[in-house]
Amino acid sequence: MLRVLVTRRWPEAVEAALAEEFDVTLNASDTPLTQTELARAIAGYDVLCPTVSDCVDAEVLCGGDRVKLIANYGVGFDHIDCAAARAAGIAVTSTPGVLTDATADLAITLMLMATRRASEGERELRRGDWSGWRPTHMIGTGLQDKVMGIVGFGRIGQAVARRAKHGFGMQIAYHSSSEKAEAEEVGARYFDDLHALLANSDIVSLHVPGGAATEHLMGAEAIAAMRPGSYLINTARGSVLDHTALADALRSGHLAGAGLDVYPDEPDVPPALLEVDSAVLLPHLGSATREARVAMGMRALENIRAFANGHNLPDRVA
Ligand code: DGY
Repeated sequence: MLRVLVTRRWPEAVEAALAEEFDVTLNASDTPLTQTELARAIAGYDVLCPTVSDCVDAEVLCGGDRVKLIANYGVGFDHIDCAAARAAGIAVTSTPGVLTDATADLAITLMLMATRRASEGERELRRGDWSGWRPTHMIGTGLQDKVMGIVGFGRIGQAVARRAKHGFGMQIAYHSSSEKAEAEEVGARYFDDLHALLANSDIVSLHVPGGAATEHLMGAEAIAAMRPGSYLINTARGSVLDHTALADALRSGHLAGAGLDVYPDEPDVPPALLEVDSAVLLPHLGSATREARVAMGMRALENIRAFANGHNLPDRVA
């Protein structure tokens, strides 16, 4: 029977389903594994099931030669050195599709919170500083007819576009490596130049994968190219964004607000952002619905099952 190591707590239903079919080691305390423990797992198990909170780098992958499958719990896999895994003959799978709606919903949540100053307003009220209704109190920005600029038009970017168009009457624009047929449904305008998209958007929402290719895609120059008074939303990966440049743009008022769910060095949050009232900051909740988290686990299980039976892996990424 395959030996499987799960690095963090998963929803109970999935842990039970896994335990029925495999010799599973679960992490009841939910304490993140150290790099040494991860390397040991490579030597002692057939399948490793990490999450975004594990750094499965080349050094870890050199820890042994027993693991043959890394079944990641999550759609993003930039925390796994796929080139090193490939070189070591280890397959890698992810969990696409099942967290699209949850993550798109959270991007919209952040957009609403940032444009309607929801965190700032709640902080004022909890501090006891609210002096009552008045016509000029905490004015935000409406969304009808505003342009939602989507960077990365994959599953989640498209789901955000549908919500923005059909739910809020926004116009949709997008940037990606090529034009997408799916853009037609929401009448989205394509920009092959990122800075042109940024200059034409009132809200920018990031939906590109993490990793070297997109590191600081939204750096100081890109942020400067955004429309004065616009908003930036990030539910993708923290590495995509230069947080120092973002904090500067929020402080100077060039950007009216930002909504962030992800950070470069989680769980650390760039201190400069903690001090800016117009930044809405959530703790990586994109896929945090019961439905999505169970479906993610079941998807990982399907990949392990396929591996155990010698079938093609449905969600292989390396
Ligand atoms: C994902 O699925 O990539 C989420 O960000 C959690 O890892």
